[in-house]
Amino acid sequence: MAAAKGKVCVTGAGGYLGSWVVKLLLSNNYAVHGTVRLTGDAKYAHLNQLEKASDNLKLFKADLLDFHSLCSAIVGCTGVFHVASPVPSTTVPNPQVEVIEPAVKGTLNVLKACVEANVKRVVVVSSVSAVFMNPNWPKGQIKDETCWSDKEYCTRTKNWYCLSKTEAESEALEFATKTGLDVITVCPTLILGPLLQPAVNASSLVLIKLLKEGYDSLESKLRSIVDVRDVAQALLMVYEKPEAEGRYICTAHLIETHDLVGKLRSIFPHYNYPKSFIEGGDEMSQMLSSEKLQRLGWSYRSLEETLVDSIESYKKAGIVD
Ligand SMILES: NC(=O)c1ccc[n+]([C@@H]2O[C@H](COP(=O)([O-])OP(=O)(O)OC[C@H]3O[C@@H](n4cnc5c(N)ncnc54)[C@H](OP(=O)(O)O)[C@@H]3O)[C@@H](O)[C@H]2O)c1
Repeated sequence: MAAAKGKVCVTGAGGYLGSWVVKLLLSNNYAVHGTVRLTGDAKYAHLNQLEKASDNLKLFKADLLDFHSLCSAIVGCTGVFHVASPVPSTTVPNPQVEVIEPAVKGTLNVLKACVEANVKRVVVVSSVSAVFMNPNWPKGQIKDETCWSDKEYCTRTKNWYCLSKTEAESEALEFATKTGLDVITVCPTLILGPLLQPAVNASSLVLIKLLKEGYDSLESKLRSIVDVRDVAQALLMVYEKPEAEGRYICTAHLIETHDLVGKLRSIFPHYNYPKSFIEGGDEMSQMLSSEKLQRLGWSYRSLEETLVDSIESYKKAGIVD
């Protein structure tokens, strides 16, 4: 395993975003240590088929709550992309155990392992769920990196995923301040785009349901969307640019569900789209700015390209006709 750009670790390598991060790193001549929960499982077979994987990808069995398993994957790496975190697609019976603990304790385990291994920079994937759940933010004002989700509000409204990402990110940045570890966080909005992995993940399911469910009526919410390939690019950019620091919101397109379906219908008329829409309330506004990331040089593809490539990949996987 010798690659020109050095060795980096990606946690959650077999997931939706993780797979694209691994692919991008391999194509940029990094040697990659990927963590997965079950080595040898068919759900990770796609990783070994990536270009340059045979020479430059090594998979490690690691769980976020098992510190020593993370250390084995991270030792010898100059950089770490911490992507793994539970992303439930439905409500879970025990959010503390299933979502919050792996996200928060898991992130701290990764960061501690990075200190032990003398890692130079860690990129932590957070989420806008850690940004926008803030009822005290001035109404109508675009949310930037200074806005944090209110943990008490997340708890009161039982938004356990938002709480998990908010706690994990704030603890990560606090850990960085205390230890001097170079930590950068990236907060993407709803991620869409083609699948590399065989299992459907929670955010792709949002689009798949619009194509398949045939809802009689659906709430037309404001959605902020970003392409999975552009998120991977953002993660690599903040890793490589020495001037990158702190927190970055990563979003591209703001659109109402109603208009999104209109766009989809104009390209793919035959799917079982929602039959009508109810105007969405003005819940926590998704008006977010990625200006900081764009100033670093990040750009994004068109929404049409994201939608077409997503649906082509679902067709190829037999998920839609
Ligand atoms: N998709 C979105 O719209 C979106 C938006 C903003 C932020 N994010 C963030 O992006 C990251 C990746 O999410 P995704 O959309 O790619 O979801 P995903 O496909 O469900 O990936 C989640 C990954 O986390 C791993 N994981 C979960 N619990 C773990 C544990 N206890 N130990 C080790 N690994 C564990 C999973 O491993 P297995 O493969 O073994 O299950 C999987 O690889 C997450 O941090 C998520 O919060 C996603």
